Amino acid sequence: MDNQLSVMIVDDEKPMLEWLSILLEQQGYSVMCFSDGRKAVTEGRKNMPDILVVDVKMPGISGLEVLSRLREISPELIGIVITAFSSVDSAVQAMRKGATDYLIKPFEVDQLLVAIEKALGEQKIRKENRELRKKIRSRFSIEGIIGKSKPIIDLLDEVRMVADKDSTILITGESGTGKELIARAIHSISPRAENPFLGVNCGSFSHSLLESELFGHLKGSFTGAHRDKEGLLVAAKGGTFFLDEVGELDRELQVKLLRALQEHQVLPVGGTKHIPFDARIIAATNANLKEMVSRDDFRPDLYYRLNVIPLHVPALRDRSSDIPILLDRFIKNYSEETGEATRVITREASEALMKYSWPGNVRELENVVERVCVMTSGSEITFADLPDFIKEPSVTDGGVFAEMNSEIESTVSKVGATPTLDVIEKAYTLYILEHRAEGQKRLAAKLLGINESTLYRRLERYAKDRENQ
Ligand SMILES: Nc1ncnc2c1ncn2[C@@H]1O[C@H](COP(=O)(O)OP(=O)(O)OP(=O)(O)O)[C@@H](O)[C@H]1O
Ligand SMILES: [Mg+2]
Repeated sequence: MDNQLSVMIVDDEKPMLEWLSILLEQQGYSVMCFSDGRKAVTEGRKNMPDILVVDVKMPGISGLEVLSRLREISPELIGIVITAFSSVDSAVQAMRKGATDYLIKPFEVDQLLVAIEKALGEQKIRKENRELRKKIRSRFSIEGIIGKSKPIIDLLDEVRMVADKDSTILITGESGTGKELIARAIHSISPRAENPFLGVNCGSFSHSLLESELFGHLKGSFTGAHRDKEGLLVAAKGGTFFLDEVGELDRELQVKLLRALQEHQVLPVGGTKHIPFDARIIAATNANLKEMVSRDDFRPDLYYRLNVIPLHVPALRDRSSDIPILLDRFIKNYSEETGEATRVITREASEALMKYSWPGNVRELENVVERVCVMTSGSEITFADLPDFIKEPSVTDGGVFAEMNSEIESTVSKVGATPTLDVIEKAYTLYILEHRAEGQKRLAAKLLGINESTLYRRLERYAKDRENQ
């Protein structure tokens, strides 16, 4: 047997050794026996067993000593301690010294087997947890950013260059391009990596909640403020703070944030004393902040304060050569998460995915892969398995507008030759919700580049319009 597990038994009673070794060999373990603790340690160092079964009381060094010396070399070693003294003391001591389990002599065969199986099960879980943690870490590290196209290679070079500085970074890019992924990667290779990475999405809080999230508040400063609360900027002690969708900040918070960034201190809501903070700021936006500045929707001084190091994440359609490796990764992720066999994608399907324009970028690709994997039971993903909007040639010909043409035409025929922007906006919004996002409002909002709350407001308005008609 290749993966036969090995057990080392250490006991000064020969009959016990013989009995245990016959028993464990019958169960398929490979067994080594020692009646002397020192010899067991010497052998164990050369040939570490998977499981150690030791007697506590022995002449020379004790069983617990054997366990702790071998654990120094192999921290994962399973140690089952057997003791003739049914004292709670020696059992407690054994567990304290790191025994995985203990048995009191005389014990039944099954008790030992159950103890071993339980320990092996727990070890497996620990190992899986460790691997999972490692995987999560690597997904959020620079290795987790997939892409070999020139724009991505250049971006990653920039990321490596700016990671160890403290200057503020502004990451721009369309929705779903991987801005947050880049921000986390910068943190993970920066000298601040061991400290927190905290963030807030400026578009998902009301003004007052956002202010207290960012800067904290004092007890009693508003209804419901039952105790003092530290702001996230302060809580990110020595780490990185991610200001997502920074274009959504209202005027008043723009002023307050600017002051905080300039002075490296915050004023909690209801407070009079400023509190210093130490966090590197990374902001992100899918809006065109420069244009917002020229429209007077965003303060120029804050824009310049944030835009010290600009990083732009390219849209997926501008680096479609990355699509095959992204597909590969997402298909593998799906099979790892579900335990199903990894599907193979046909060339024709892969090419169709490369031609599609991906308005929702990598996030949309990730969603499409998941949906296709859920819907296909076979081991292969073919062209026929792809969603209609990817298969339809109109999309590849003229993008979403060609596809929408007939809808716009029918709208125009209803409202006259020159539809207002409102009419077009409504047609486009409903089109994306129904045909691209398949009714998922969250995805539709992403594809439209608006907040989910904005989408909900629009849908409510359309419903009212319908009622009034
Ligand atoms: N280069 C990449 N390699 C692997 N996964 C990626 C890559 N880019 C993006 N992703 C994945 O796509 C999804 C969207 O990425 P992320 O949330 O970073 O985008 P974003 O630009 O912040 O989007 P939004 O503007 O909508 O907030 C995530 O699941 C992320 O892991
Ligand atoms: Mg994001």
